[in-house]
Amino acid sequence: MRAIELNGFGGPEVMEWGEAADPVPGHGEVLIEVAAAGVNRADLLQRRGFYPPPPGASAVMGLECSGVIAEVGDGVRDWHVGDRVCALLSGGGYAEKVVVAATQVLPVPDGLDLGAAAALPEAAATVWSNLAMTAGLDAGQLVLIHGGGSGIGTHAIQVAVSQGARVAVTAGSAEKLKRCRELGASVLINYREDDFVAAIRAENGAGGPGADIILDIMGAAYLSRNVEALAPHGRLVVIGMQGGATAELNLGALLSKWGTIHANNVRNRPTTGPNSKAAIIAELNRHIWPLIADGTIAPVIHAELPITEAPEAHRLLDSSETFGKVVLNVRDA
Ligand SMILES: NC(=O)c1ccc[n+]([C@@H]2O[C@H](COP(=O)([O-])OP(=O)(O)OC[C@H]3O[C@@H](n4cnc5c(N)ncnc54)[C@H](OP(=O)(O)O)[C@@H]3O)[C@@H](O)[C@H]2O)c1
Repeated sequence: MRAIELNGFGGPEVMEWGEAADPVPGHGEVLIEVAAAGVNRADLLQRRGFYPPPPGASAVMGLECSGVIAEVGDGVRDWHVGDRVCALLSGGGYAEKVVVAATQVLPVPDGLDLGAAAALPEAAATVWSNLAMTAGLDAGQLVLIHGGGSGIGTHAIQVAVSQGARVAVTAGSAEKLKRCRELGASVLINYREDDFVAAIRAENGAGGPGADIILDIMGAAYLSRNVEALAPHGRLVVIGMQGGATAELNLGALLSKWGTIHANNVRNRPTTGPNSKAAIIAELNRHIWPLIADGTIAPVIHAELPITEAPEAHRLLDSSETFGKVVLNVRDA
């Protein structure tokens, strides 16, 4: 098969569309002929050598894909050759074929294009596992989503709104905030111009002034301001460290409002068992896939590029020009 190989670590130019060994499905796994692969910010880190694949995962980049099942391994009963699917991967999506545990596969609803479906698994797994499974998302809560225009943010807005929460977002431009409002966000904060703490503390969450849940991608740079912006009993969930990993924390500020800080990632979770990828996928099947099938939640795609233009796709994601996801089309390569 062909796959994007890394010719060393570095800029987008280290990616090359070349030959790679065909993966073979083992017990409990399926082989997917890849139609499209979603691009994630984590891929940019992996390309630069800062986010190695977990043990046993493919060295090829790509945390999510869509396609058609081409082979099933021993013990797989729920999937069949020819099924249109998308999958949460620990790696390997930037390729013509990928092998994945059958428990990480989701159906592509009728009417949804395979290109768009490739944008769903990583965002859906990240958002639901953090907002709902970790932070207890519920109706009436105020949820602050940093980076509302990101691949994660555009999905998170729709999920929070679908559960009856009120959504606040930060973004770096009026145009992105306008588009976040179209997705259902009602408190719009331009982080380049306004203080998000003041804006959030002027709003009431279910627990009182402030946000009941904050989904954070900035890490150290926002830690103390996020704690300030929490409502009593609020939950801060850190999923990204775009503003650094190390910061000082005033425990008194957290304690005085009975706050909680979580920090989570999806890729390194075990395949099965408690808090595993399989557990998240089962929850997505139950709670989110019906909303995708009926159009309540839709993938937001900024651009779909041929996989041979993976370097350009990475430059695009790094540019801050994107609203939603960038997808690589593998079918026509
Ligand atoms: N823990 C996990 O399992 C997990 C899984 C997936 C993703 N993530 C993390 O989630 C984040 C988003 O990922 P993605 O793939 O969706 O990335 P993306 O589409 O490239 O989005 C990055 C976003 O960061 C925003 N941003 C930059 N500086 C900001 C600031 N000072 N305040 C608020 N927002 C700011 C940008 O907003 P503007 O363009 O408006 O400036 C942009 O929307 C990344 O940090 C990624 O590592 C974590």
